[in-house]
Amino acid sequence: MTLLEICPSLRAGMSSPRLDSGVWPCDTHYDDLGRVTLGGVALSDVADQYGTPTYVLDESEVRRRCRAYRKHFPDAEIIYAAKALMIRSVAAWVAEEGLSVDVCSAGELTIALAAGVDPRRIVLHGSGKPFAELEAAVAAGVGRIVVDSLTEITLLAALATRPQQVLLRLSPDIDVHGHPAVRTGVTDQKFGFPLGSAQATEAVERILRQPMLHLVGLHCHLGSQIHDADFYGEAVRRMIAEMARIRREHGIRLPQLDLGGGHAVAYRGGDPEMSLPVLADIVEDALDAACSLHHFPRPRIAVEPGRAIVARAGVTLYRVMTVKHVQGGHTYVIVDGGMNDNPRVALYGARYDAVLVNRHPTGARMTATVAGRYCEAGDILAHDVILPADLRPGEVLAVPCTGAYHHSLASSYNGVGRPPIVAVTEGRSRPLIRRETPADLLARDLG
Ligand SMILES: Cc1ncc(COP(=O)(O)O)c(C=O)c1O
Repeated sequence: MTLLEICPSLRAGMSSPRLDSGVWPCDTHYDDLGRVTLGGVALSDVADQYGTPTYVLDESEVRRRCRAYRKHFPDAEIIYAAKALMIRSVAAWVAEEGLSVDVCSAGELTIALAAGVDPRRIVLHGSGKPFAELEAAVAAGVGRIVVDSLTEITLLAALATRPQQVLLRLSPDIDVHGHPAVRTGVTDQKFGFPLGSAQATEAVERILRQPMLHLVGLHCHLGSQIHDADFYGEAVRRMIAEMARIRREHGIRLPQLDLGGGHAVAYRGGDPEMSLPVLADIVEDALDAACSLHHFPRPRIAVEPGRAIVARAGVTLYRVMTVKHVQGGHTYVIVDGGMNDNPRVALYGARYDAVLVNRHPTGARMTATVAGRYCEAGDILAHDVILPADLRPGEVLAVPCTGAYHHSLASSYNGVGRPPIVAVTEGRSRPLIRRETPADLLARDLG
């Protein structure tokens, strides 16, 4: 029997590792003062210099994730799904790392072009692309447009004055059992055409009738936070069977198969995440088997990770405003951000960790709920996190794994502007996006 088992209260006084290496960026450390550093910069210094809340982004981690994809999928096209986080710097970093970029609006397209992304390496998505956005994409010369509806084929046919490559989005009826808002591979949902349906056949026929539209492949996207790579193996088998059917019935061989994104990351220690080597093996085996079964030449595979590229590179900093011990209830640590900068908790029930970063706590600990400052009872950032019992107003908390779908989903509810994004790398910090101010809010208000 150990001393801790004999006297469990000792545990509260032990200093425990605060940083889970499965959740934080690789370049996260403690400095001599016990502060947490990222990219060689103390996070509490970032909070002092740029204010809070602030999104911190580790450039090296973004690049490392791009390289991991390229290493494990050397023959595939890696397309960064920009909806996860679309700002010029990130678009430039991923393009420098050899990735293509998927955009889903004229706004994202404008940012990609402004960042210098080659339009031929841009893919346009969207379940309801407005005419003006299709027009902007065609005019910019985007490489591929993913066709999502019959209406879009008519609009594209009218717009394209030179050959435009398109992919056709199909739903292969694969249920990844996620939150209903993120299950996009099933038949009864708004994206694309059900695989094998009459509408899918009609879409192929209509595209083939248009001289300026070149159907180069099929696309599917199964959902989000998928950690079981077998779902992708099944998608490959179903999609290759469909490509073989299209060849039989229409006499064309499609050279590309885009498997979408959705690769899971760990938000808290112990969460399952997608293993890239396992995914690569499963996709490869499924391709071999399906292509030989249907005597179909191997198409070039594309994958579209968004979250898996940027989520772990981001950390959000908050200042503690107050600590409330509700008699007979929870302890609430209220911070100066919340659902405006992280709506994922309210939207999907996402779970996060929070860590004190301005000092190394050694005393007793408490279980607390980290809550936001906004006027909604559901404005919670993290449930049941372990924090020092002597946590004080003014101290700095960091929530890891906030690089994806945070800035891009942020709002200015309660008239509080969106936070800045500050990049850290090699001991330096620099702002990439400035804080949204009351003056910005007023600038849009025409009175
Ligand atoms: C078509 C498509 N591709 C890629 C992605 C990226 O998904 P994730 O960020 O989960 O990898 C999405 C996300 O919704 C998507 O809709």
